[in-house]
Amino acid sequence: MDHFQLIDGILHAENVPLPRIAAEIGTPVYVYSRATLERHARVFREALTDAGIADPHIAFAVKANPNLAVLKVLAREGYGADVVSAGEMERALAAGVPPHDVVFSGVGKTADEIIAALKRDIGQFNIESEEEGRELAALAETMGKRADAVLRINPDVDAQTNAKISTGKADNKFGIGLHKAAAIYARLAALPGLNMRGLALHIGSQLLNLDPLETAFGKIGKLVSELRSAGHRISHVDLGGGLGVRYKAGDEPPHPAEYAAMVARVTKDWDVQLMFEPGRVICGNAGVLLTQVIRVKPGAGNLPFVIVDAAMNDLARPALYDAWHDFEAVQPTGERLTGNIVGPVCETGDTFAMAREMDVVAQGDLAIFRTAGAYGATMASTYNSRGLVPEVLVHEDRYAVVAERIEPATILAAEHVPDWLA
Ligand code: LLP
Repeated sequence: MDHFQLIDGILHAENVPLPRIAAEIGTPVYVYSRATLERHARVFREALTDAGIADPHIAFAVKANPNLAVLKVLAREGYGADVVSAGEMERALAAGVPPHDVVFSGVGKTADEIIAALKRDIGQFNIESEEEGRELAALAETMGKRADAVLRINPDVDAQTNAKISTGKADNKFGIGLHKAAAIYARLAALPGLNMRGLALHIGSQLLNLDPLETAFGKIGKLVSELRSAGHRISHVDLGGGLGVRYKAGDEPPHPAEYAAMVARVTKDWDVQLMFEPGRVICGNAGVLLTQVIRVKPGAGNLPFVIVDAAMNDLARPALYDAWHDFEAVQPTGERLTGNIVGPVCETGDTFAMAREMDVVAQGDLAIFRTAGAYGATMASTYNSRGLVPEVLVHEDRYAVVAERIEPATILAAEHVPDWLA
């Protein structure tokens, strides 16, 4: 459920009419709903606790939506942060996430990032290779610290999602293969700079089926027993993120309650602190990309090109993953047309939808792309020398700009012509 609904024929975000935001801030613009974020954060947590998982540690995957105000909303809900760069770590801390609730994931942490995270005394490092573990241990020891860490496992399970966002197959770059895990774990556990305390996994994103997760968790459970038999103290297992959301009619993502019931069943004998890293399921439906129709151009056959002022640089998912985002007029008339929805960027990949049945829209009309709260603004670029899209957060009948539009002139001002070219 989200809070982007028609009120008297006009799409609103909570109680704010979207035309008001378009008039005051301009388009394209991302619009987030605080109530939706809070609702999803609570539903996810309550699903786990209702299933009997006492005190789950939930770290929001910052990469899904790193906006400072969004992070603040989730920090106030008691969410920690799963970060994959020093930049994400600083954002999470700036939003008020306590350092001990920060988990540092990622396959390529640099020495500088590790040092920064050690200085901040973050809660946990999710180690992705023996080499990384040894480097972390050495840096921690030099700083007189002992880093809490878990080993990320690659369970070699097909997540049945887009190949570009699958992370748990043996040939993906992430984690340590099961056959090598026990030996590497033992070697890392012997290092004085590390407090090895468990395992982590994350097999992919936008999962619409729980079976791959269940298979992967089962493999982790076996490894937990094996490591314990070898004398290791396993107190934490981080089950990652990955729950899918509904982008399109017919998508049937598992409800968090079904996910939680499965997790509770599979992990019932583990006797560990369970940790989670949800991203999309918390913020996906909590945001839309508000855009204006620049003009409608006749196309081949009977399919017009609806040219909107948002483009692939603002919302990259359709171009990158052939992703579907529902497109709706802000003031629908009830009439429908079939057409192609495209942005102004000069490549054919700048296409949001082909032969899509949609609300009739005309030059100057406002429309939204739904489910743009996750992996939307954060993946924006300035391609074609377009500005960086702004973000607003709505709260009941008011809203605030939570990320300014970065104008092309600001970006140009950061570029320099060397003396020897002047
Ligand atoms: N934990 C780790 C280690 C991850 O790599 C990710 C996402 C998550 C948690 C959160 O996954 P979620 O709950 O959001 O599925 N840009 C792509 C998605 C990339 C996901 C990368 N990792 C997209 O727009 O679909």
